[in-house]
Amino acid sequence: MAKRIFSGVQPTGVITLGNYIGAIKQFPELQDQGDAIYCIVDQHAITIQQDPKELRSNIRSLAAMYIAVGIDPEKSILFIQSEVPAHAQAGWMLQCVTSIGELERMTQFKDKSAKAAGTNETVLAALLTYPPLMAGDILLYNTDIVPVGDDQKQHIELTRDIAERFNKRYKKTFKIPDIALSKAGRRIKSLQDPTKKMSKSDANAKATIRLLDTPKQIEKKIKSAVTDSEGIVRYDKENKPGVSNLIDIEAALTNSSTEDVVAKYDGKGYGDFKAGVAQVVIDHLAPIQARYNELIDSEELDRILDEGAEKANAIANATIQRMEDAMGLGRGSRH
Ligand code: TYM
Repeated sequence: MAKRIFSGVQPTGVITLGNYIGAIKQFPELQDQGDAIYCIVDQHAITIQQDPKELRSNIRSLAAMYIAVGIDPEKSILFIQSEVPAHAQAGWMLQCVTSIGELERMTQFKDKSAKAAGTNETVLAALLTYPPLMAGDILLYNTDIVPVGDDQKQHIELTRDIAERFNKRYKKTFKIPDIALSKAGRRIKSLQDPTKKMSKSDANAKATIRLLDTPKQIEKKIKSAVTDSEGIVRYDKENKPGVSNLIDIEAALTNSSTEDVVAKYDGKGYGDFKAGVAQVVIDHLAPIQARYNELIDSEELDRILDEGAEKANAIANATIQRMEDAMGLGRGSRH
């Protein structure tokens, strides 16, 4: 049987080159190797306060972006999480097999709650209980493989623990999913602080390249990327994180090795290097942006999302039934 692949992205602003290289770029490649399901995880987005109008527009934008990067609705299911109520149901049930200690250990929770506290924002309960919702996303679809960036590894490990615990405590209900990290650019860094990951929510706009940035913006951001004073293009993550990050970006987008990229810039200074990387990014994003613009206001996009929700609901509801039966909720399927 074909392997089931599942992944999700939060609609919290235009996706970044980090999201793209770390995860989304693999999605169209994987749809030819298995049975792929991709989700716009809007319920995860509201674990941080969102402006409702902006959220709606970000959801649509992300949907168009998924198709623009090459997700084919004939091959994959594409849907919005909140249009499949089973996710919230599964999230609740799985919270009931997860301990607070496990959740408090999650790096994403620690980072995001510290950030919220720093800006005097309330830390919402859902920020803590986010991983069981994510586990539900994955487990509802009998997933074999979850392609994600390196920063989600801990959440996938917890998903596996939760699934195993549920199977043991109640009844074998879930498949135990495996993580698939992309080889190139497991963690793309901020252009301004290459010790931190490139993040959608970075307050410094120059730190992040967004998939809808114009060629001029891309050029400017890469030109002002933090490097070092050595002046030699070589790969050394420890001592030259800024230069290595730009090499990672070019290698990932051109499907080449870091050695090939380094050889290309042999004898060149950082000015030429940055101009070269910027051109690679601009050329890679041009066709994606063109397709995005065709889709964003189209009825085609709504048709794809309607169909995706219908298919996802059918699979997810069957799993909810099995979960409720295992846990003894309600009166069972044959009352
Ligand atoms: P999110 O929306 O933050 O990111 C989407 C995907 O992009 C990857 N990523 C990166 N990879 C490399 N370098 C970076 N700088 C970088 N920034 C982000 C993430 O690893 C992710 O794969 N919790 C998830 C969303 C989610 C999910 C799921 C994923 C919810 N349910 C079920 C898979 C399966 C998240 O916040 O991703």
